Amino acid sequence: MPGPRRNELFRTLWIELAAHEAAEERYLYCELLLDDRGLHASRDALADHHKMDEIVETLKSRDPDARGWMNTVKKLSKELHDHLREEERIFFQLAGKILTKLQKRTLAIRYRRNYLVMHAKYEDESR
Ligand SMILES: [Fe+2]
Ligand SMILES: [Fe+2]
Repeated sequence: MPGPRRNELFRTLWIELAAHEAAEERYLYCELLLDDRGLHASRDALADHHKMDEIVETLKSRDPDARGWMNTVKKLSKELHDHLREEERIFFQLAGKILTKLQKRTLAIRYRRNYLVMHAKYEDESR
């Protein structure tokens, strides 16, 4: 795959990732941190996000045609898939127990709103 195409796909991916992370940290993990039962899981999730961000920064600073770029992408893919599995199997199950119905509804609305704002912001910044 040629470099410009790689770059475009990578841009789509990191914008999606960054917008989702920001909104999820603000409107899910922040709330879970406030409950003793959610402390460990939310720290774990934020650490995963941070790890992925660092890989994204490395990829941004390097030429997509350079040797090793695709290996770093694979590393990101693995981190991401591991994280998604952990969220679905553990963190979201726990959130289901900790949060009330009303909290879930309110947080979901705020999450969606902030996700869109952050998506537009990163979209702008990446031009
Ligand atoms: Fe996450
Ligand atoms: Fe997530």
